[in-house]
Amino acid sequence: MRLPFFSKPEALLRPARTTDAAALAEIHAEGGFAGSWSPNEFENLLADRAVITDIASDSRKTDVIFGFVMSRMAADEAEILTIAVRRKSRGNHIGHRLMDTHMARLAAFGVKTLYLEVEEDNTAARKLYEKAGFVTAGLRKGYYRKPDGGFANALIMKLGLENL
Ligand SMILES: CC(C)(COP(=O)(O)OP(=O)(O)OC[C@H]1O[C@@H](n2cnc3c(N)ncnc32)[C@H](O)[C@@H]1OP(=O)(O)O)[C@@H](O)C(=O)NCCC(=O)NCCS
Repeated sequence: MRLPFFSKPEALLRPARTTDAAALAEIHAEGGFAGSWSPNEFENLLADRAVITDIASDSRKTDVIFGFVMSRMAADEAEILTIAVRRKSRGNHIGHRLMDTHMARLAAFGVKTLYLEVEEDNTAARKLYEKAGFVTAGLRKGYYRKPDGGFANALIMKLGLENL
């Protein structure tokens, strides 16, 4: 028998609120991205009606956030701006669940094609996107500046949402 007190917290998926801004900035800062976004920048993004953000939170305490994904819509297209899961919560399929929920929500808004950019060497992110059905649509050589001063290629990936 598994005692509920000791079991791993379940993730609950929900749309983000502007009050989540500080937590999202914290999780984004853990993501290893070149530039960090402030809580104020997240608050502005969350208030933007063209920006859709889904969150995975602790089902027992919904202000405890494990990860999020954020996209900007334009006409019938959207682009993933960022996705990140807290380091200690990674590898538990939260990324997969975030993507599934997010793609369904974007499709319900009328989005037909979803784009993203990913560093060529980011194995975990590429696995996540490929499993979700994304295909490579382009390559930007030396697009990302790495912390060691080097450069990394970016892949442009694309997914049709019409048949979801
Ligand atoms: C990418 C990220 C969001 C994935 O979140 P997650 O909750 O760990 O993802 P999941 O548990 O759903 O796993 C997704 C896939 O990545 C794989 N994976 C997870 N961690 C991995 C690692 N360290 N190395 C290689 N593959 C890994 C999983 O096995 C899974 O693939 P599978 O379905 O074939 O088994 C998370 O690693 C993260 O926040 N990374 C830092 C920020 C980032 O790189 N964002 C993407 C920018 S484009």
